[in-house]
Amino acid sequence: MLRIAVLVSGGGTNLQALIDSSEKEGLGGGEIAAVVSSRKDAYALKRAEAAGIKGYVLSGKGLTTDEYGSRLCELLENEVKPELVVLAGFLKVLSAGFCKKYENRIINIHPSLIPSFCGDGMYGLKVHEAALAKGVRVSGATVHFVDAVTDGGPIILQKAVEVHEGDTPEVLQKRIMDEAEHILLPRAVRLFCKGALSVKDGRVFIDENKAEE
Ligand code: GAR
Repeated sequence: MLRIAVLVSGGGTNLQALIDSSEKEGLGGGEIAAVVSSRKDAYALKRAEAAGIKGYVLSGKGLTTDEYGSRLCELLENEVKPELVVLAGFLKVLSAGFCKKYENRIINIHPSLIPSFCGDGMYGLKVHEAALAKGVRVSGATVHFVDAVTDGGPIILQKAVEVHEGDTPEVLQKRIMDEAEHILLPRAVRLFCKGALSVKDGRVFIDENKAEE
């Protein structure tokens, strides 16, 4: 089994989608080996516990981005030994060193159609507030590989979701989670675990033969 570390900071609905998917149809030969939270009170940790997955807390208090990256590397190398790192609502910026070490092995889910409404400071409800302020008719979600540029890495999958008249940020967030995020993230993890993804010149290619196996 290919070992997956899932990094979280909040409610963990994307983690739950991965857990549910792994129980129903499997993760293409991957298993969630551990969950690491940047916050000790994250509800995602309870979800991990309920699923019998080992949880760790690594708070960033008083640490620089580089120091946090080093601690995270240590924790993963010593305790988890993952082949894939999934950011499922993980709200800390990862150091360039960490991104390099796990190059093309870190997957992030972002709640917009990148390159819209992304980058530094764009996370959680702020993304949906910005989309509504701009008046876009569609938004959606993106799963991508992580590099040192926030939300800048190669795009794996995207799905569009309609914006409705009268949407609040919370309503739009929920629709995008239900219709896009919770479907795309398990799908991208399955593709990775089946060895169907490759990166060339900053773009992701999907091997359809391996994807269908
Ligand atoms: C999700 O909408 C995820 O896409 C977003 O945070 C939420 C976490 O929810 N991530 C970002 O904004 C990253 N830039 P969850 O804890 O319920 O999965």
